[in-house]
Amino acid sequence: MWIVLADSELELVPKEIVRTPAILKSAQMRRKDASGVLLDSSNHFASMKGLKEWQRRGRPDIVHFCLLLALDSQLNREGGLKVVVHTRNDEVIEFASETRLPRIYGRFTGLMEDLFKKGKIVSPEGRTLMRLKRKTLSKLLEETGVEPIVFDESGEKLGITELAKLLTSNDACVVIGGFPSGGFKSKCLEGCKKVSVAHEPLCAWSVLAKAVVAREAALEGA
Ligand SMILES: C[S@@+](CC[C@H](N)C(=O)[O-])C[C@H]1O[C@@H](n2cnc3c(N)ncnc32)[C@H](O)[C@@H]1O
Repeated sequence: MWIVLADSELELVPKEIVRTPAILKSAQMRRKDASGVLLDSSNHFASMKGLKEWQRRGRPDIVHFCLLLALDSQLNREGGLKVVVHTRNDEVIEFASETRLPRIYGRFTGLMEDLFKKGKIVSPEGRTLMRLKRKTLSKLLEETGVEPIVFDESGEKLGITELAKLLTSNDACVVIGGFPSGGFKSKCLEGCKKVSVAHEPLCAWSVLAKAVVAREAALEGA
C-alpha cells in the first residue's frame, strides 16, 4: 500500500524571513547557515507572521511522527508499504522500506536538512534510503497508476472493517494531509474518493495508524 503524506509542512526557512532575528538566533545556536535550517514554528514563530499561510507552516514534527509510525510498522517491515512525503513546495521524498529514522526530533530535523542539501541520504552500506525530487502531487499520484483514496474528515464515514475492504490491493494509495489545520492545498485531489475514519478531525498520525491497521486486517482476511 502507498501512503502519501500530502502538502506536508516541511520546508527550509523561506528566503523572505531568513535574515530575521528568531531565525538567525536558532541557526546560530545550532551553528548552521540560516538558509539551510528547517522552518519550525516552535522556534521561529516570531519570524513567521509575515509569511503567507503562516499559521499552518513549519511543522516537521507532523512528518516525523507519521514517518516513525509508518516505517516502524510491521506492515512496512514485511515490505507492504511505500511511504512518500509530498511537501508544500512540490518536492517528493521517497523512503526505502529499511529506513529507520532517528527517534529524537533534533536528529530528525538535522537529517532532513541534510536531505534538502544533498538530495539523498545513503546508508553506510551504499544503499539510498531517502531521495528528494521536485514533483507535484498530481504527477506522483499519476505514477502510482491507481485512484487515490483521500483521507479527509468530509468524506464517507468508514469503520476499520469497511476500510480494510477498501484496502485489499497491495497497490492501494492512501493520501493523508501532512499539515496541522485547514484543507489540502493541491487541487488535484478535488474529484477523488474521500473517506473519513472518525466523527471529528484527528491528527495525521492517528489517521495513518488506522490505515496501517486496516491494511494489516485486509491481509489477514478479516
Ligand atoms: C490535522 S488534519 C488536517 C486539519 C483538519 N482539516 C482540521 O482543520 O483540523 C491532517 C490530516 O489528517 C486526515 N484526517 C484528519 N481527520 C480525519 C478524519 N476524521 N477522517 C479521515 N482523515 C482525517 C486528513 O488527511 C487531514 O488532512
